[in-house]
Parts: sequence; C-alpha cells; structure tokens
Amino acid sequence: MGRKKIALIGGGQIGGILALIATQKELGDVVILDIPDFENPVKGKALDIMELRPHDGYDAEITGTSDYADIAGADVVIITAGVPRKPGMSRDDLLEINLNIIKNVAENVKKFAPEAFVIVVSNPLDAIVYAFYKTSGFPKNRVIGMAGALDSGRFRAFLAMETGYSVQDVQCLVLGGHGDEMVPLTRLATIGGIPATELISADRLKAIEDRTRMAGGEIVKLLGNGSAFFSPAQSALEMAESYLKDKKRIIPSAALCEGEYGIDGLFIGVPAVIGANGIEKILEVKLSDEEKAALKVTVEHVAGVVEETGL
Ligand code: NAI
Ligand code: 2OP
Repeated sequence: MGRKKIALIGGGQIGGILALIATQKELGDVVILDIPDFENPVKGKALDIMELRPHDGYDAEITGTSDYADIAGADVVIITAGVPRKPGMSRDDLLEINLNIIKNVAENVKKFAPEAFVIVVSNPLDAIVYAFYKTSGFPKNRVIGMAGALDSGRFRAFLAMETGYSVQDVQCLVLGGHGDEMVPLTRLATIGGIPATELISADRLKAIEDRTRMAGGEIVKLLGNGSAFFSPAQSALEMAESYLKDKKRIIPSAALCEGEYGIDGLFIGVPAVIGANGIEKILEVKLSDEEKAALKVTVEHVAGVVEETGL
C-alpha cells in the first residue's frame, strides 16, 4: 500500500498552505493543479516544499501541474479554484465567475478522480459545493463543503482570547450557511466542560458571536487584497484527515441535508461525522425557537444563492 494521494485544485493562497500543512501532517503525496498560466508558480511552490522536507524529514512527494491526468487515483480532492473576495465584496459577489470554474473542475474530477472524497472551499461556499454535487453526480457522502470548521474555529479562538484559557479546551458549534447570517450556538459553547455562559458575560458573548459572523470580512479588510488562507487550509485538512484516518470526528461542515433540521436538498453547515465512508452521519441538535428562527434566515439566504446557479 503506497502513500495516500491528495489533489489540490487551485494552487493560490489556500492551495499553497494546504500543500505545506498536508506535507507536515504526512497525510500523503500532494498534487497541486492550477490553470496553465499558473502552472509554473504551482510547480515552484511544490519544489519549494520538496526542498523544505529534509529539515523535518517528511517523505511525501509534492508536484505542480495543469494536467488533470496527474490527479488520477486521488483519495482526497480539495477545491479552492476560483477568485477570493476583495474589500467591499460579499462572498455572493463571487458566484458568477466561481460557478463557471466549479463546473469545469467538477467535470474533470469526475473523469480523473471518481472515487475521491471531495472537499469544496471556493465561495460562495454553500452554492459552489451544491454546484459541484449537481455537476459531478458524486454521491452525497463524498461531497462536503468547508466552512463550519473555520467558523467554529474562529468562535473557539475568540472565546479563548476572551478568557485567556487554552483554545484546546474550548468547544463550540456554528450552524448554517457560510455568510454573515451563520448561527453560532453560544448556548452550547463550553470551556473546559463549563458552559461559556457561566464564564463570560452575556454582553461579551454577544460581541464574540457578532465578531464570529463577520470574521471573514475582518480579515479581508486587514489583508486588503484577498481573504484568509492559513486557517481555511488547516480547517479543510482537519476534514481530510478525519476521512483518511477514519477518525469519525464531528466537524461542522456543509453537507447535503435531506430532511435534517427540516432542510431539504441544500448543503448547509451542520455537525457531520467524517470517517472512511465520507459523511457518515449528520447529527441533529435540539434548537431553541430563537435558534430555529436564525437558522431559517441563513437557509433562506443559501436557497436564494443556490437558485441563482440555475442547477
Ligand atoms: P487565490 O486567488 O489565491 O487562489 C485561487 C486559485 O485558483 C488561483 O491560483 C487561480 O489561478 C486558481 N484557479 C482559477 N481558475 C481555476 C480553474 N479553472 N482550475 C484550477 N484552478 C483555477 O484564492 P484563495 O485565497 O486561495 O481562495 C480560494 C477560494 O476559497 C476563494 O473562492 C475564496 O473566497 C474561498 N475561501 C473560502 C473559505 C471557506 O471558508 N469556505 C475561506 C477562505 C476563502
Ligand atoms: C472567510 O470566511 C472569505 O470565506 C472567507 O475567510
């Protein structure tokens, strides 16, 4: 049994960091694919990481390409192909251009890596993962969108920053679409097993909840020319690792809901069990009336963007 193979479609900001962290985690060989105009830069990134390996002794092979034949046999495909936000843009402003890109990517992934577990990252996430699913015809357990892992990671980071306690001991869950209407479930957040509501004042919790919803935009404004890339890469690889190692981690992810949470036919952020069979289960949590109402708002928003895809 050789090493696992991870194909990265899109070798820009997130793609480069994905390649680095996948190598450092020794998840498998990595192929970075980009458009022909960007083939040399991804070959350069791959070679740079090849040359980094001796320092810590990672043995994976990292290659750059623009030829889909090179992703053949990939166990995991992570898609970041597309354009990111610039200041003043919403994720939804990216729909038209990224929709055309994902349709092309889906046809190629279907042809060259039909058995892969596919993690979509490109925005607007909930509609782009839906478009991949529709275009590729992949089974629903092997198509997932990365957003909840990032959004709940941000929520965890802010709760840890507020208290000064270790991020390791903060647990929380964000439901819904990857947009400003996402639903951080503050009621269920815990710090060292203690409800966050017992450790942090209601006002501060509300501020942290609001910051979580807007956290992507906060970074877009600071960077000035692009969006977050370190934490999105780490979040997507957490999902890939759970699949490759059959860890059965519960990771908030955009999964196709068919009745769960009363949602039908949309990819929405929900707690998903990720193991060797891909999305093995969606866990349902009882929501308060207020949380249900908030979820309805984000679902309606995602449904509107999905409708615009015409798929
Ligand atoms: P980037 O612009 O640095 O990289 C995108 C890469 O995709 C570029 O290298 C580009 O040449 C490539 N590309 C374009 N068309 C392609 C095609 N047809 N086939 C293959 N590659 C193609 O952007 P970055 O920062 O890496 O972000 C990528 C995407 O991820 C954006 O859409 C961004 O909005 C999204 N994103 C999603 C997050 C999430 O939580 N789901 C978080 C952060 C970003
Ligand atoms: C983020 O949340 C823009 O989706 C990107 O950082």
